[in-house]
Amino acid sequence: MYTEKVMDHFQHPRNMGEIENASGVGTVGNAKCGDIMRIYLDIDENQIIQDVKFKTFGCGAAVATSSMATELVKGKNIQEAMEVTNKAVMEALDGLPPVKVHCSLLAEEAIHAALWDYAQKHDIKIKGLSKPKSDIHEGEEEEEEEY
Ligand code: FES
Repeated sequence: MYTEKVMDHFQHPRNMGEIENASGVGTVGNAKCGDIMRIYLDIDENQIIQDVKFKTFGCGAAVATSSMATELVKGKNIQEAMEVTNKAVMEALDGLPPVKVHCSLLAEEAIHAALWDYAQKHDIKIKGLSKPKSDIHEGEEEEEEEY
């Protein structure tokens, strides 16, 4: 059902963890499956993503897509990071089963939410970026974090 790359990123997730005082943090959730994903970005003064970490409370595909998404945005500038769509993440993983496509969407949304947070803090606009729909504000997801 899963490609080798999906299994690899699920079993050995890259960039798992958190960044203290991150430049941007985005937390998104999928109401249907209840999975939650959080992305931390460390962005330098040239708008380059120097570091990225994720925390995912969700299914295996959500872990694998977060892991791959972090690999894809690392070292990119904020505009290039916008090109890391769920499609790009899926392609990099050699595909996902149709029922798991929404998991990759969560990864895209989490990156966008983190970029949005960064843009808000710096009072800048990122081309093509609008306020993320499923952004969960700090504090609201406290209980879910327990498991
Ligand atoms: Fe919901 Fe995978 S089942 S993110």
